[in-house]
Amino acid sequence: MASDRRTFITLGASAGAAAALGALPAFAQSPSPAATPGTCTPQLCTVPTTAKPVPWARPADTVLAPRRSAWDLTPAQLSRLRLAYQRMAALPASDGRSLQGQRNLHAYYCVTCNGGPGFPGGDIHFSWNFLPWHRMFLYFHERILGSLVGDPSLRLAYWDWETPARAFVPPAFGVPNANPLYDELRYVKLGQTISRMLTNYNTGAKRFYQLSLVHRLLHCSWDDFGGTAPNTNPDGPSGGVVESGSHGFVHVSSGGDATRYDKIPCSGDMAILNTAARDPIFYAHHGNLDRLWNSWETFPGNANPADPAWQNLAWSFFDEKGVWTSMTVAQMADMQHALGYGYEQKITPSAHMLRMTATPERRIDLLAKPRANALLLGEPASVAKAPSAEIVVGGLPVLGEGDYELVVRSSRGTFPLGDLFVTPHGGGHHMKMGAQFNVCTPLWGDYVSPPTPNPKLIAVLLDPNKAFYLQSSSVAGPRLAAAAGAALGTRVTPKRAELVLH
Ligand code: C2O
Repeated sequence: MASDRRTFITLGASAGAAAALGALPAFAQSPSPAATPGTCTPQLCTVPTTAKPVPWARPADTVLAPRRSAWDLTPAQLSRLRLAYQRMAALPASDGRSLQGQRNLHAYYCVTCNGGPGFPGGDIHFSWNFLPWHRMFLYFHERILGSLVGDPSLRLAYWDWETPARAFVPPAFGVPNANPLYDELRYVKLGQTISRMLTNYNTGAKRFYQLSLVHRLLHCSWDDFGGTAPNTNPDGPSGGVVESGSHGFVHVSSGGDATRYDKIPCSGDMAILNTAARDPIFYAHHGNLDRLWNSWETFPGNANPADPAWQNLAWSFFDEKGVWTSMTVAQMADMQHALGYGYEQKITPSAHMLRMTATPERRIDLLAKPRANALLLGEPASVAKAPSAEIVVGGLPVLGEGDYELVVRSSRGTFPLGDLFVTPHGGGHHMKMGAQFNVCTPLWGDYVSPPTPNPKLIAVLLDPNKAFYLQSSSVAGPRLAAAAGAALGTRVTPKRAELVLH
């Protein structure tokens, strides 16, 4: 099994290949057009050093500076970043600070190397290790880049692919000529979108992830968002939805068909864990995931785990002097102070989500007896003055990844309550496709308006005995059919439901 993993685990799970990055099967429309015979990046597993790690301490030259979108860099910021990568790439591979050394370090902590001779065990993917390890890795990477141009305020650029107009390779990274941020072994090219339907080479199955919806993940719990402790139960939860959703999707849509990492034409570097950190866009992609995490952890009501098992996690990296340095999760709790960076713009929650944090004025229990949950409000002076209502339903059995709409069918008629975004939860060590799903997004409906003689009457009369049905969403865009379990339109029985009026 261990050698299978070293050899076959790729970014995506597919019928033939073992599991990989984010419950995402290996999907791509075609092999990397950049690949020419004999040019696939070989997979490598090297032990970074045998040195004893030195505990990290906040460097005296730490300054607070924001990371900025790769789309918004000034010409001076861009040329400085390019110069830094040019120098990083020019360092000998034996130097842990080189781009090759950085790639090797990431590979070392990956399942593709994990378990081999000299490898410590403890993959940093597929569990709650994922977000903090990559935060640390980017921090040390950024420090190295800064030192190579003598500027401790140099910051990585992030790739804000959740903005639809930016779900393309940022020109800073995509321009091919004389560009240290360009990687020839990258599937997606300048001007091409990563927001597209991916097709599995082997099975023909389709896959799509709506990157523009990641702001909804600010409502996930930590377990759903960031994952849980590594879990050897193949069906147990482990990796969070950030990792298994947008993370894997962008890797594969940027890197190409992950099953072709050793075939001609081969996949791009980003497609598989072992080679991904060889492409400078890896750091911009992970910068955005870290930005998503920072947006989550600073959103009201959210908090990172206090569990000492998480807080005491520690890994080692090369610092800007090449010193093998260990850092703990607890050491970077105050991210801006400890690590010296923030994000110029966070990922903002929707207005609906902001309202969810307000104190509810009234609640009714939708699972109470039908009569008791009837709530009839008088006609508001105007529709604008009418109260808005949010429906929160817990414990729904979920059909599969995609967008759904929740509708209520009652004696008063059928009406929609809002759309529902369902995203895969990585299941266990192998993140089996379809093993677990999460609904992190509360449902909402601005106005729950059953058909009444007076359409302005805001009235709710829900009958829990025949209330909730999932149907295909009205949200535009590609989406999956139900992947598992019950068919769309099947009645679902919520374990918890409430209506909150504002
Ligand atoms: Cu360590 Cu995006 O992978």
